[in-house]
Amino acid sequence: MTVPDSARERAAALRAQLHEHDYRYYVLDDPIILDAEYDRLFDELRQLEREYPELLAPDSPTQRVGGAARADFAPVRHRLPMLSLRKVTTEEELRDFDRRVRQLLGVDIVDYVGEPKLDGLAVSLIYEDGALVRGATRGDGETGEDVTANLKTIGAIPLRLRDPEKRVPPVLEVRGEVYLPLAGFKRWVDEATARGERVPVNPRNAAAGSLRQLDPAITAKRPLAFYAYGIGHVEGWRPRLHSQVLEHLRAWGFPLSELIERVRGADGAQRYFEAMQARRAKLAFDIDGVVFKLDDLAGQDELGTVSREPRWAVAYKFAAEEAETVVEDIDFQVGRTGALTPTARLRTVFVGGAHVSNATLHNLDEVARKGVMIGDWVIVRRAGDVIPEVKEVVLAKRPEHARALKVPERCPVCGSPVVREVGDPVARCTGGLTCPAQLTRALQHFASRRALDIEGLGEKLLGQLIEQGLVRKSSDIYHLDVKRLAELERMGEKSAQNLIDAIERSKDTTLARFIYALGIPQVGEATAQALAAHFGTLEALTEAALADAPTADAPNLKDKERFPQLRKVPDVGPEVARLISQWFAQEKHRALIEELRRAGVRWPDTKAPVEGPLSGKTFVLTGALPGMTRDEATALIEAHGGKVSGSVSKKTDYVVAGADAGSKLAKAEKLGVAVLDLDGLKALLGAAR
Ligand code: IVH
Repeated sequence: MTVPDSARERAAALRAQLHEHDYRYYVLDDPIILDAEYDRLFDELRQLEREYPELLAPDSPTQRVGGAARADFAPVRHRLPMLSLRKVTTEEELRDFDRRVRQLLGVDIVDYVGEPKLDGLAVSLIYEDGALVRGATRGDGETGEDVTANLKTIGAIPLRLRDPEKRVPPVLEVRGEVYLPLAGFKRWVDEATARGERVPVNPRNAAAGSLRQLDPAITAKRPLAFYAYGIGHVEGWRPRLHSQVLEHLRAWGFPLSELIERVRGADGAQRYFEAMQARRAKLAFDIDGVVFKLDDLAGQDELGTVSREPRWAVAYKFAAEEAETVVEDIDFQVGRTGALTPTARLRTVFVGGAHVSNATLHNLDEVARKGVMIGDWVIVRRAGDVIPEVKEVVLAKRPEHARALKVPERCPVCGSPVVREVGDPVARCTGGLTCPAQLTRALQHFASRRALDIEGLGEKLLGQLIEQGLVRKSSDIYHLDVKRLAELERMGEKSAQNLIDAIERSKDTTLARFIYALGIPQVGEATAQALAAHFGTLEALTEAALADAPTADAPNLKDKERFPQLRKVPDVGPEVARLISQWFAQEKHRALIEELRRAGVRWPDTKAPVEGPLSGKTFVLTGALPGMTRDEATALIEAHGGKVSGSVSKKTDYVVAGADAGSKLAKAEKLGVAVLDLDGLKALLGAAR
């Protein structure tokens, strides 16, 4: 059957459009048409190809959906072997590598291209006259498997090269990594879990398994992605630099990592490595290190390859984030609220770039779930700056002498009874603030930056103060003096004075900070702010908490009816309300608040404004006031009962304008609002007095 010209032309146009949309979608991540519109073009092309099978080309976008399943993969011999990389793990080894490169080339400094080392699998893609004709896995480096049909299903792999300015060589082998982005991996795990299917262990395995599916229709369903990182056999093109190769690949329509950078010498390489290590956790895909390649291709040739590893490239791997070691013991750390956190004492291992000898086990449920016993071999994980944790037990290595963890009946620090309520994964010391561990943590919290912010009052110093009986509760901090402090270890007259000054400064605080500093269980910064904003004064909060207390266990109340006062605060749920009301119901807590206030801790009330000459009046400040900051002027107005607002409206009573007042002044004049200068404001205070 002859194909009419119109059909031939239409098919070519559709193919070109679909190639362009694939490129925009998968490579640029910047689609310009809706999926439905894409589908329409796609269906039209498929229809034409069905009608005129002659039109069907192997690089047609319709070939991405995956053809017939096969019985096996044909072997493919690589024209040039697919090499592996020498690995280094320390800066010293990296510098050795660089020294050798420079020595062999006889130069002082060289440029490298730094690339992320993606954790997927290497593939080779052969393009003839710009069309993808074959794709293969790396295999053993000499011979791989023909997975063309599967690779074609990956949207990020161009079926036809773009040729904007740079002419495409007649034969071009592109090499790169097929990988599974983390989001796709997570979706897969979630879906497989929900369906009770087998869950892939990691993105690398998942990618490898997907690519080696005999039925390409299955591969097509997996969210695989691709990054190009180099070339293999090429005819009709002799690039000079690796960076130039990458630039061309990008122009031809291949996705390349945004993280690729040219770096100078070992110093530049080390900096790049550190930068990537820092960014690693935030990337959308797994990387297990970085690769450095000599940029100069003639230099690459000169250096050559030894036993499958090029002398001109190196993989600088991140330190393993997991390692095996032995749990020598498990003991308990006592936290601020008495929670006992089981902590594994480990045989020291090097993991995630640090020597680790302790790892958290979080709580007793976790210990039970993981089944950790003392004496067990475990996998310890430390990623980035996070606290090392015991990931899992290596059951196959469990020794006979392994023994189960016993929850202590008494607090290991103060000897008070330990209780664990039904259903609570946490065991707690009942010692309260008589337990030195709880007291230290509570005071650490009290003095922390976002609470009362007492600079210099850290864990060590608090430990000494508690041990010597100088501090038994937070209010005692305000009765310390320079002489007593100066006698402590590692404390001189000067640092003692500094601490006293810091303690003095901390007395001026805000209601929200004060509430947060009290360390009420579950009341973090945000909740403290919400409570302060809602109640305005500590008295109002205390009253509400006490009024709510009897509702805690009242048998006839519905849940909704408990804690009616506290529940009015945004974000305070029944559990938090219960904890707040319980806290205030304790006499000793209210006494502590009293002591703190008597010691001089104070804050402006946020509501219940002061009655004064400015009561009921709203002010707006604008421009620079002579000899007074905005905050000071605000405090002055509020101290006399006035309110300060940020913008001028008809409700504004006065605008106080300083030098260079701008639009607010103009608006005041327009609305006919009275305008004062600072003297005018003072006169208002004086006149009203
Ligand atoms: S270059 C010298 N570049 O690492 C040629 N490989 O150990 C060797 N890999 O099989 C390949 N990211 O799967 C190169 N930017 C990158 C890479 C990379 C990941 C993998 C690739 C290869 C293995 C080599």
